[in-house]
Amino acid sequence: MSFWDERYQGEAYLFGEAPNAFLARQAPRLTPGQSALAVADGEGRNGVWLAEQGLSVLSVDASSVAQAKAARLAEARGVSLELAQVDLSTWDWPQEQFDLVVGIFIQFAGPELRTQLFAGLKGALKPGGLLLLEGYRPEQIAYGTGGPRTPENLYTEDLLRTAFADFEILELAAYDAAIEEGATRGNAMEFIIRDDTGQTRSVIQTNELGLTVGDRVVITQSDRVRLSRAGGAAPVRDLVRA
Ligand SMILES: C[S@@+](CC[C@H](N)C(=O)[O-])C[C@H]1O[C@@H](n2cnc3c(N)ncnc32)[C@H](O)[C@@H]1O
Repeated sequence: MSFWDERYQGEAYLFGEAPNAFLARQAPRLTPGQSALAVADGEGRNGVWLAEQGLSVLSVDASSVAQAKAARLAEARGVSLELAQVDLSTWDWPQEQFDLVVGIFIQFAGPELRTQLFAGLKGALKPGGLLLLEGYRPEQIAYGTGGPRTPENLYTEDLLRTAFADFEILELAAYDAAIEEGATRGNAMEFIIRDDTGQTRSVIQTNELGLTVGDRVVITQSDRVRLSRAGGAAPVRDLVRA
């Protein structure tokens, strides 16, 4: 049995049944009827949520165990989810088919495969489509709260700016945040890029924030990131565009 099939054994959903927090924050950007590709979607928490927003979703992953659970989650929520079991290292990626491509913690790929994956993500987007990508930075390894142990698999701002230099980067945010998604707990280091191939040309670049567990980072507008302290206290500061 493969590594991921083994991790996905059991009734519980490894990363939970709720969507990834970054993805859920992007709800205002989604339009019912759009087509979406959920890449390495695992047990379907994100693909199912996208379907609940009225999108037509193709959820791909290598794990048959995960995909069976994704099908069950979709059924329980009363939405349809197209599933395809694929190995993304050899997949014949669809070309210009999706309004939205989503990659949430798809850092199983080292540099060579990542180059291939990023080309696949880009190629799958319709012109003007939106790519949502979230992953850990190398700093995450020291936290030891999940994610790959191989630093070369993780993202840095430079890496993403270079890899997506041919795209319009709408938002790029690097920060500490408390992640509580399924079995993942603790103060994790997140790196987010949101890449919009549309007309907007704004770029956000955040600095190191020094947050503590429980602090929240909320992207409030396309050009601002608002920080809130745990417990709903007043925002501590806004970060302005670079
Ligand atoms: C950290 S999990 C993230 C799952 C999902 N995106 C989420 O956020 O819940 C990484 C996923 O990558 C999938 N994966 C790993 N290697 C793969 C490959 N070569 N092709 C397709 N999927 C792969 C695993 O099965 C696993 O579901």
